[in-house]
Amino acid sequence: MAPKRPIRYITTIVSDISDSAGVRLLSLRDPDGWELPPATPGSHIDLYLHNNLTRAYSLCGDPENQHQYQVAVKIDHQGRGGSKYIHNELQVGDFIDVSLPRNTFPLIRDGQKYVLVAGGIGVTPFIAMMYQFDRLRISYQLHLFYRDVPPLQSTLAQLGRYGQIVLHDRANACKTIPMLLPDPHEDTYALCCGPLRMMGDFDDAVQHWDSANVSKEFFVPPERPPLVNAYSLVLKKSGKTVAVPVGTTALEALEQAGVAVQSSCLGGVCGACKVEWLEGEPIHNDLCLSPADRRNQFMTCVGGCNSETLVLNL
Ligand code: FES
Repeated sequence: MAPKRPIRYITTIVSDISDSAGVRLLSLRDPDGWELPPATPGSHIDLYLHNNLTRAYSLCGDPENQHQYQVAVKIDHQGRGGSKYIHNELQVGDFIDVSLPRNTFPLIRDGQKYVLVAGGIGVTPFIAMMYQFDRLRISYQLHLFYRDVPPLQSTLAQLGRYGQIVLHDRANACKTIPMLLPDPHEDTYALCCGPLRMMGDFDDAVQHWDSANVSKEFFVPPERPPLVNAYSLVLKKSGKTVAVPVGTTALEALEQAGVAVQSSCLGGVCGACKVEWLEGEPIHNDLCLSPADRRNQFMTCVGGCNSETLVLNL
């Protein structure tokens, strides 16, 4: 059986806006004007760039607008090349393939109050949520920590009808975050998306909260734990067996064996490389699967294995 390719949609760039924070906001539409697959607040898509890079970006437009996806990309001069390509090469009118939306950062239930803590470009998933909150008249506070210039100011200026947007200097995040959070309450939810250090500050501040009321999304994957076991992947559908040496990810071994698995962040945060596992003892090193998901799902870009074989539904 031929390897299953991920579903891609062709979109065209219909507008782009660059701001002084080094962020380029792209609006993508179906070239023939059809609706795009629906996305819930907090979703992201992969962009399949023409230089063979795949990059995941949170959708930051109004999720009710099914004719348009918006992604905001901050230039990262030290990065792996995706943001530089998007800033320097893409033009309005270019076609670009995108994945189906995935949501590893969904809104937690229907709360009455949300406190959103964002670091820089980590504000993007919250923008989609704020469109929803403003529509549903749900109370929220967005605390945006920034360095030099806040990102996406013209987009944020359209939001905040039922919420408050507060800007903070990023240098003070450690001291400020604990003071921003109200006392825990069953109807109050705290969400965070930002750089690793800010996520640590947020974790410290919500230690006494019920974990069901707290959620976060990494946009920079933390360092992956070392993969110290060698094992074999047994692919139930194709009948193949793929050896995974020490230090190699399941994703790398599958790709070397010619088995196509979608991937993007390579750090266990975006959800792209998820496969179903059937037997064995997987080691889950990801930051996007819930305990319930882990009973049958496995992120191949970071996971390891404690048993001699891991049977996958591939
Ligand atoms: S590629 Fe993003 S979680 Fe594996």
